[in-house]
Amino acid sequence: MGKIIKREIRSNNAARGLVDAVIKPIDPSDINLIIQIARQSFETVWKLDEFLFFISNPNAWCWGAWFEKELIGYFLGLLVQGELDIVSVAVANQWRRCGAGQVLIEVASSSGIIGEMFLEVEADNEKAISLYTKCGFEKYGLRRKYYNGLKDAVLMKKKNT
Ligand SMILES: CC(C)(COP(=O)(O)OP(=O)(O)OC[C@H]1O[C@@H](n2cnc3c(N)ncnc32)[C@H](O)[C@@H]1OP(=O)(O)O)[C@@H](O)C(=O)NCCC(=O)NCCS
Repeated sequence: MGKIIKREIRSNNAARGLVDAVIKPIDPSDINLIIQIARQSFETVWKLDEFLFFISNPNAWCWGAWFEKELIGYFLGLLVQGELDIVSVAVANQWRRCGAGQVLIEVASSSGIIGEMFLEVEADNEKAISLYTKCGFEKYGLRRKYYNGLKDAVLMKKKNT
């Protein structure tokens, strides 16, 4: 961690074409912006102190994607012994389908320190399953009624080469 990475993504304003997104580790001062994106993305959202607790974990892998001064997406994971458990990935509504989600995953895949990546995703979250499939994840299982005793979770993993 600690690096700043630039990756080209599509602008959310067609007139601008491609733009550089800056991918960098999340700082405690970014959490309010993360909460705004989380609220657009999930029914249940951690509170400020829960996010702060998570990112203070020495095993946390937490990166944000920025366009200029705007946080456009984030990636939260836990990295233990070369295995990354993806906890959450979300992109701001107005920046979806511009490539930011893919770039956040690729930054983890290409870091050189993550051997394998695991996640679970709601079985009916087609956008996310499509994103992970495009990034090279494969389905390896299903947990029935995993979310609130109602929705199934698809388990996916990817080996980085
Ligand atoms: C899922 C999510 C993170 C995708 O982020 P994104 O930045 O919009 O995705 P990208 O632009 O990088 O898309 C990469 C690929 O993912 C797939 N994809 C992304 N959004 C899609 C959609 N709405 N429909 C179909 N495929 C989609 C496509 O294969 C896409 O490639 P393409 O644009 O070349 O066709 C975003 O929709 C989001 O924040 N959703 C709410 C939160 C969530 O569900 N998170 C995942 C569970 S933890």
